[in-house]
Amino acid sequence: MELFKTKKELEFALDRERNAGHSVGFVPTMGALHEGHLSLVARAGAENDTVVVSIFVNPNQFNDPNDLKHYPRTLESDLALLGSLRCDYLFFPDVTEIYPEPDTRKFDFGALERVMEGRFRPGHFNGVAQVVSRLFDIVRPDKAYFGQKDFQQCSIIKKMCILLKSPIVIVPCDIVRERDGLAMSSRNSLLTAAHKAVAPQIYRILQEAQQESVFSTPEEVKMGVYDKIGKIALLRLEYFEIVDELTLQPIASWEQEGTKVGCIAVYAGQVRLIDNLVFDK
Ligand code: PAJ
Repeated sequence: MELFKTKKELEFALDRERNAGHSVGFVPTMGALHEGHLSLVARAGAENDTVVVSIFVNPNQFNDPNDLKHYPRTLESDLALLGSLRCDYLFFPDVTEIYPEPDTRKFDFGALERVMEGRFRPGHFNGVAQVVSRLFDIVRPDKAYFGQKDFQQCSIIKKMCILLKSPIVIVPCDIVRERDGLAMSSRNSLLTAAHKAVAPQIYRILQEAQQESVFSTPEEVKMGVYDKIGKIALLRLEYFEIVDELTLQPIASWEQEGTKVGCIAVYAGQVRLIDNLVFDK
């Protein structure tokens, strides 16, 4: 694995790969790597000749300065983890390398960004699009890999590629979970022992909601989730929505066409966790 801090060095190396006819798979991350990230890297390795991973904690996507300040940074262990599978190039730029000047671009994702994460984290997806579009311009991958844990992020990135007329293929990858069901996340390392003990309830409640959808209306299922999380002292629900997979708009009835996804955001103390589950109907 070669580590680069500048665009110039990485672009030079990747030009060489492309000239040799090698396909490029790209996994953008913010580091504090875990099995979820590694599953993306492994998939990129299985589908491409060259694998590029980036680690960049993007200030522009943090709507909460405290979240940015406390975001885990674990380069040493990230390097060790990436060494355990095939990562050819690691891009680890400084903020000035990505943003030599402030990025003032405003993306319009329409209704996709007015719900869930977009609603509760104003400016978040604009910051995600700013950094991912810049990284895409530098890496110019054939395929880029994103986790379904950030389900709405996957939709936003696909829409961004349409807006920018980008040919990059976006590959959504399955959620990787702890053995107790908790969706893996870099933020899990910030949980206290007490919060870690209750956090797996989030996935359990999502699974119950999925089962209840057989005999309850979407509204009843939603109320059930609010009720159950409300009874767990250490968790605070920010939202639970059952949305259409493509439009991300809340559904009114199970009769609606298309796949439905239950999406949840919960605070466990100071730590904000998100998860989702497809509701097969
Ligand atoms: P980060 O949270 O580091 O996640 C990097 C990628 O790993 C994302 O595509 C995310 O969905 C995926 N991922 C995280 N946890 C996962 C899990 N448990 N199972 C499967 N995939 C998982 O998402 C970001 O960084 C940033 O917003 C980024 C896209 C890098 C832009 O800054």
